[in-house]
Amino acid sequence: MLLFVIAACVARGLGSEARWRGGSSGSDGGAARTLLVIGAANADIIVDVDRLPVAGETVCARDGVRVVPGGKGCNQAIAVARLGDGVAARFVAQLGADSHGAMLVNTLLEHGVDVSRCVRQPGGDSGQGYVFLEPGGTVSSIVAAGANGCWPELTAEACAQLVAGASAVLLQREVPERVNEAVAAAACAQRIPVLQDIGGEDRPISDAQLRRCALISPNLSELHRLTGGMPVGSDAEVVAAAGTLRARGARSVLITLGARGAILVAEDGSVHRQPALAVPGGAVVDETGAGDCFRSAFALGLIEGVPLHRCLRFAAAAGAIAVSRLGAVPSIPTRAEVEALADAAEDAAAAAAAAAAAASPPPAVGAAGGDGDGASRLRGGGAPGTDAPCPLEFASRLNSMKDRPELWAGEQSPLGWVARQGQVAGLGLVDFNFPQHLDGLDVQRVRDALAGAGLRAGAICLRYPKRMQAGAMTHPDERVRAEAVAMTIAAGEWAKALGAKELVVWSAYDGYDYSLQVDYAQLWQRVVDGFRAVCDAHPELKVSLEFKPTDENTRFFAVPSTGAALLLVRDIDRPNMGLTLDLGHCLAAGENPAQSVAMVGGAGKLFGVQLNDGYQRLGAEDGLIFGSVHPSMALELCFWLQQVGFDGHVYFDTFPRNEDPVREAAYNIRAFKRLWAKAHRLRAEGVSTHMRAHDALGVLELLERMEGE
Ligand SMILES: Nc1ncnc2c1ncn2[C@@H]1O[C@H](COP(=O)(O)OP(=O)(O)OP(=O)(O)O)[C@@H](O)[C@H]1O
Ligand SMILES: *[C@@H]1O[C@H](CO)[C@@H](O)[C@H](O)[C@H]1NC(C)=O
Repeated sequence: MLLFVIAACVARGLGSEARWRGGSSGSDGGAARTLLVIGAANADIIVDVDRLPVAGETVCARDGVRVVPGGKGCNQAIAVARLGDGVAARFVAQLGADSHGAMLVNTLLEHGVDVSRCVRQPGGDSGQGYVFLEPGGTVSSIVAAGANGCWPELTAEACAQLVAGASAVLLQREVPERVNEAVAAAACAQRIPVLQDIGGEDRPISDAQLRRCALISPNLSELHRLTGGMPVGSDAEVVAAAGTLRARGARSVLITLGARGAILVAEDGSVHRQPALAVPGGAVVDETGAGDCFRSAFALGLIEGVPLHRCLRFAAAAGAIAVSRLGAVPSIPTRAEVEALADAAEDAAAAAAAAAAAASPPPAVGAAGGDGDGASRLRGGGAPGTDAPCPLEFASRLNSMKDRPELWAGEQSPLGWVARQGQVAGLGLVDFNFPQHLDGLDVQRVRDALAGAGLRAGAICLRYPKRMQAGAMTHPDERVRAEAVAMTIAAGEWAKALGAKELVVWSAYDGYDYSLQVDYAQLWQRVVDGFRAVCDAHPELKVSLEFKPTDENTRFFAVPSTGAALLLVRDIDRPNMGLTLDLGHCLAAGENPAQSVAMVGGAGKLFGVQLNDGYQRLGAEDGLIFGSVHPSMALELCFWLQQVGFDGHVYFDTFPRNEDPVREAAYNIRAFKRLWAKAHRLRAEGVSTHMRAHDALGVLELLERMEGE
C-alpha cells in the first residue's frame, strides 16, 4: 500500500500533474487531449532469404516480398491511436510523393491518426527499410531515410505551432537531430512534456536536449552506448548508468530490458522496476515494434494522469502482447486486450500481496490507498473510434456578410462584416480581399477587429483593380505588370502583419477573349515571372494561384485547368508556390473536384480549398451551399483531402443572396464536418477494397448500408 502512495508522489515529481496533462484540457470533459508524435515513417520491404549474400554475391528471395508500414514514429502514432481512449493521435512526418507515401498515409488514416501535418515532398522518396529475414528468425536491415532525412528548416514559430495544443510530444531518433532539438525547445517553452525515445540512429545527444525532455527512454544497448560503454548487465548497473545521464541533465530515464521488463528512474531519483508480463500464448513470435508499443502505452498512461506503476504495468502488458504476434503495426494490441492483461497481472499481484499480508500485521490506517480513479481511467471505453475529429479550420466569404442587411445591426464595412462573422459557430479564420477589404485601414485596427470577433486571419486574397482589365501580371505594358507584382507583394506584407499563412491570387483579368489575340508562350512566361517575383519576396508565405477556366471578364484564362495550373507550379519552381482549388471553378472546367484534389495534393501543392456547389448551367457561377447539389462529389472531395493529408484551411466561397449569411456559413461548416466524418467511416468500412477493384456497385452498396444504419 505504501508503494502506491510513493508512486503517486513520484507521478507529481515527474512533472506536476498539470504539466503532464499538458496544454489542451483537464482530465475530465473538455476537448480531447492530443499526443503528438514527430518522427519517421518508412515502407518496410520484407524479404525472406535462406541466408544473407556475401560481398559480390546475389541470393534469391525465398518467396514474395511484403511491403508494410514501419518507422518508429509511424508505429508509435498508430499505437497511440489504438491504445488511447479519448486521446487524439497526431503524427508529423516527411513522406515522399510516391506510392509508399500514399500507403503510409492510408494506413495511418485507417487507424484514425491525424496526418494533417504530414508533408508529402514533391519529387521525394519515402523512407524505406529493407528487412532480411533468415530462417532462424535473425533479422538484418538497411534503412534509406529518404524524406525522413530531408526535413525543411524549422523556425521557432513553426515549431511552436506544431506542438501547440499537444498534451505531450513523443520523439525518436530517425529524423535529423536538429528537428528533435527545435521541437523539444518549442515544447519546453509551452511547458509540454517531451518523451524522447533513444531508439533510431546511433548518434550523440546533447546535454541541452537531455534537459529539455521530461523523460528519455533507451533500451539496454542504447543506454550502454549513451554512457560511453558503462556496464548494463545487472539492474544495479542499469540504475548507475541512468544516474550518469541524470547527472548530465536528464530528468527521468525509462529503460526497456526486453524479456526482463523495464526500469524507471524517476525525476526524484526513485527507482521503479516493472517485470515483463507473461507473453499470451507463451511464445515470443516477433519482437519488432514491442518497444514502440511499450513507449506509446507509457506516454498515454502519463497524459491520462495515471500513477507511474500503473503506467508501467499498462506498457508492459502492451509490450508482452506485441511480442506474441508477427509484425510491427499488426502486432499492436487494442486497449481492451492490454487492459485485460494488465488487470490480470494486477489481480495476481494483489493476491500475492494478500497472501503476504495474511502472514504479517495489517498496515496502519491511512496508508491504504487511493489510485482507484487512476485505474478506471485506464479501463473501458470500448473499441478505438474511427471518427477522428476534423482538424481543419474554416473561413467564409467576407463579402457574403453584406447580404440580408436587415439581419445585422452592426456596421456595413469590412470590419463590421468581420464582427458579423464572429457570430458564425465553428468559424476560426477570416480571408481578406486585397486591396478592397483593407484599403485605408491600419494593421492594428484590423487586428483589434479580429480579436474582438474571436477570429484570426487565414489568407489574403488578391483582387486586381478594374484598371488592370487588360491584364495584371500579363498586361502588355511592362509598367502595369510591375505594378501588379508590387501590389501582390504588398498583399503579402499584410498577410505577414496579420499572421495569415497564405497569399491567394485569383486574377480576373489575366487571359484573353479572341483567337489570335495573344501569344500563349509569352502570356505563360509572364505569369511564371510574376509569381516567381512574389514567391521570392515572401519565402515564408504560401503563395497560391486559384485558377478559373472562364468568366465574363476573360473568356479564356491564362491558366484554365488544374492540369495547366500544376504545370505552371512546376515551371515557377519555388517551394512556396502552390494552388488553391475552387470547387466551382473545377466544375466549370469540366473536372471532378476530388480528382483535382488528388492530383494537386499528390504533388504536395494543395495549399487551400474554396468550397461551394452549383448546377453549372451556362454563364452562371452559382456559389451555392457546399454539398447541396453534388453531395457524392463533396463526400469524395473530403475523402481525398484526408488521403492527401491536406493541411490548409477550408474557405467557403458561397453567395447566400437570399439566406441569412451567418446561418449559411455555420451550415457549411457542419455539412463539411459531417462529410469529413462520413469519409472516415467509409475508409473504416473498407471502401479502398472496392476502389482497388474499380467496383462502382460495391461502393454504392457500401454507401447504401451506411445510410441504412
Ligand atoms: N520476451 C518478452 N516477454 C515479455 N515482455 C516483453 C518481452 N520482450 C519485450 N517485452 C516487453 O516490451 C518492452 C519493450 O521491449 P524491448 O526492451 O525489446 O524494447 P526495445 O529494444 O526498445 O524495442 P525496439 O527495438 O522495438 O525499439 C519490454 O520492456 C517488455 O515490457
Ligand atoms: C535496442 O534498440 C535498437 C533499435 O533502436 C536495436 O537495434 C537493438 O537491438 C536494441 N537492443 C536491445 C538490447 O534490444
